[in-house]
Amino acid sequence: MDTKIKIISGNNIDEDVIKEAGAVIKAGGLVAFPTETVYGLGANALSDEAVKKIFKAKGRPQDNPLIVHIADMEDVYKFATDITHISKSLMNKFWPGPLTIILKKSKIIPYTTSAGLDTVGIRMPKSIIARKLIKAAKVPIAAPSANLSGKPSPTDVERCIEDLKGKIEYIIGEDICEVGLESTIVDCTVNPPCVLRPGGITLEMLKEVDSSIYIDKAILKGELSNVKPKAPGMKYRHYAPKAEMKIISGNFDKTIDKINDMVHNEIIVGKKVGIIATEESKDKYEQGLVISIGSRKNINQIGRNLFETLRIFDDEKVDIIFSESFEEIGFGIAIMNRLKKAAGYNIINI
Ligand code: TXA
Ligand code: MG
Repeated sequence: MDTKIKIISGNNIDEDVIKEAGAVIKAGGLVAFPTETVYGLGANALSDEAVKKIFKAKGRPQDNPLIVHIADMEDVYKFATDITHISKSLMNKFWPGPLTIILKKSKIIPYTTSAGLDTVGIRMPKSIIARKLIKAAKVPIAAPSANLSGKPSPTDVERCIEDLKGKIEYIIGEDICEVGLESTIVDCTVNPPCVLRPGGITLEMLKEVDSSIYIDKAILKGELSNVKPKAPGMKYRHYAPKAEMKIISGNFDKTIDKINDMVHNEIIVGKKVGIIATEESKDKYEQGLVISIGSRKNINQIGRNLFETLRIFDDEKVDIIFSESFEEIGFGIAIMNRLKKAAGYNIINI
């Protein structure tokens, strides 16, 4: 299949491109598009046939439900039922933005979209291009992250092209995604509501709306525990680089020494080694391919660069990656969640 690729700017949107891409969605085709979190791979959420194409293009497991993206807050009443007071408050406070709310699905959402569940995840993205595309399509857009299943989510258009060129009708590109990690998911079908995936809207921010909101234990403890994550997608080895990965956690100076030792031991046996470092530490590593994912003083920058860093290590074909760790508060919870998943929960506490 020929994939049409158009780079447009959020500041000066080419309306013809939006119109054309919207028509592709309406007609049952697939369009990769930017959002403020990561790129999405969109299809008409109300069409069984169209949604099936997403699963095929990504190689996505059939039991993993898709998030439905809307452009008008009122549309939530068309696609969901039993909308609670807390979910309304969350929408009012955080939409448009990186928050997905799980609600009971209405009948018009096909079971292909919800992967057989009676619930549906709905999100109103902040990205103007995303919202314009939804409006142009005149249907809600079901969109997982626009990566091939198992790879880290794409945060720039080049990575979408790499994964999906030849497999879908259209790719729209923009500048880098502002958040860089997928949306926070809150299950509002349970009381109190439960965070199934941490993201840009932090637990602290959610608790300002309702202090009873909490994080699913499986997220904090990890898959090694017996607690099963409630978002089907969280159980897969996601965000994963091809290389083995280890996270070193503990005192900052000791971490650097420990990583230097471990890197040395790998290099002498002929391994190619990657290091996820920060601006504060990058000059302290003696060997290996060192990538700074940003400054510890700017946690948002670290989130924005995380997936791209994992992809660079794939490109460089490193055998093993050592990563520093980050404090699990605020956005740091989402960053550590993605890092731990990428490392298959291989964490060395020092
Ligand atoms: O930021 C985002 O949410 C991006 C952009 C494109 O909007 N999308 C995204 O979609 O990350 P995806 O498919 O990669 O991740 C969706 C996650 C999966 O873990 C899935 O299992 C969970 O949401 N999910 C979707 N619907 C659900 C439901 N009804 N109940 C529980 N989990 C659900
Ligand atoms: Mg994904």
